[in-house]
Amino acid sequence: MSDRKELVLDEVRRYHREASVPREFVPGTTEIWPSGAVLEEADRVALVEAALDLRIAAGTSSRKFESAFARRLKRRKAHLTNSGSSANLLAVSALTSHVLGERRLRPGDEVITVAAGFPTTVNPILQNGLVPVFVDVDLRTYNTTADRVAQAIGPKTRAIIIAHALGNPFEVAEIAQLAVDHELFLIEDNCDAVGATYDGRLTGSFGDMATVSFYPAHHLTMGEGGCVLTSDLGLARIVESLRDWGRDCWCEPGENDRCLKRFKYQMGTLPAGYDHKYIFSHVGYNLKATDIQAALGLTQLAKLDDFIEARRRNWRRLREGLDGVPGLLLPEATPRSEPSWFGFAITVTPDARFSRAELGDFLEGRKIGTRRLFAGNLTRHPAYVDQPHRVVGDLTNSDIITEQTFWIGVYPALTDEMIDYMTSSIKEFVAARG
Ligand SMILES: Cc1ncc(COP(=O)(O)O)c(C=O)c1O
Repeated sequence: MSDRKELVLDEVRRYHREASVPREFVPGTTEIWPSGAVLEEADRVALVEAALDLRIAAGTSSRKFESAFARRLKRRKAHLTNSGSSANLLAVSALTSHVLGERRLRPGDEVITVAAGFPTTVNPILQNGLVPVFVDVDLRTYNTTADRVAQAIGPKTRAIIIAHALGNPFEVAEIAQLAVDHELFLIEDNCDAVGATYDGRLTGSFGDMATVSFYPAHHLTMGEGGCVLTSDLGLARIVESLRDWGRDCWCEPGENDRCLKRFKYQMGTLPAGYDHKYIFSHVGYNLKATDIQAALGLTQLAKLDDFIEARRRNWRRLREGLDGVPGLLLPEATPRSEPSWFGFAITVTPDARFSRAELGDFLEGRKIGTRRLFAGNLTRHPAYVDQPHRVVGDLTNSDIITEQTFWIGVYPALTDEMIDYMTSSIKEFVAARG
């Protein structure tokens, strides 16, 4: 490293220490965010170093992150994207690739998903001309069950895409087995659950593909960013092609002849020897992330285990602190799982002497941030009313979530003092209504 660069980075370290003096927590005044990024000196230095090196497109840091993250999540391949939503779009779109032959999904085929969740878990189904089949979820775990998924399988069902809700695994081993038995693809939306396990095995490692988000609310961040993980090298090639404009070639930018046949292909009706770098075998996108994002991802990844542990600790403290409070249905881990919590969900029960809105307003008034369980019942949103879909069973719990559920934060920057203020505020509110 040049002396001048080292000097600049030393200044960045100094600046970081100046800029990040811990602020005193003042109950009722200091904002307690439900989620947020934890950015430390190493993160700031990595970002500035990537900028100093002018690593503005995807390059060495992106490749390094992809292999480190794939290793961490025990998958053979990870493909970095510009968001978790893009990762979902790529994963579902990959299933429609002609490369899969008879296994490919075709317009009108059905994909099972849950009604209560995040919209961009579901949108790629519709964006690919496929039909979402919605099932309900349980309260407390906020996940669906293998039984519900089994009931939803019909003659046109070809795939399943479900998110591990708020970091809590769904019954992924059983649902993966259903997928095998019925020759369905399974995509795990692991955007909120990095590090969670089911039967001791990492979520994201059961399905054909898994997706992750690196938006600041998530377990590790790149600002914006996401990832598709798979151990199926055929699917990995399709994802890469779709991500990178649809090209057939797999040379990295700046690389020229990795396939050793760059000018020796004949594809489509192109003339023989047409430059492989410019042969397009998919109708693709450009959903790549940059090296500046990946540089941040690498420093964040080094802290992932600590982040996950802090989230678990905060969740437990909230759970113990709120145990037995009347009118609140508290969250529970799915049996046989160890969640990597994203948030702490609370459902106000029908017999409560207060409404969800009243409790939410009270907490917001105390600067304790609350969030809805994303969209609630998606089928009730204007965007989906006229979209083709099927509902199996009823969506009673999804409706309860729409009306009665919210979540509060567990992210690593929350201190014990903040968590205790959150629990004492909720108890105070409930006692005043008792
Ligand atoms: C379950 C789930 N899937 C997908 C996404 C989309 O990720 P991104 O915001 O990176 O597009 C989110 C976002 O929070 C999410 O919670």
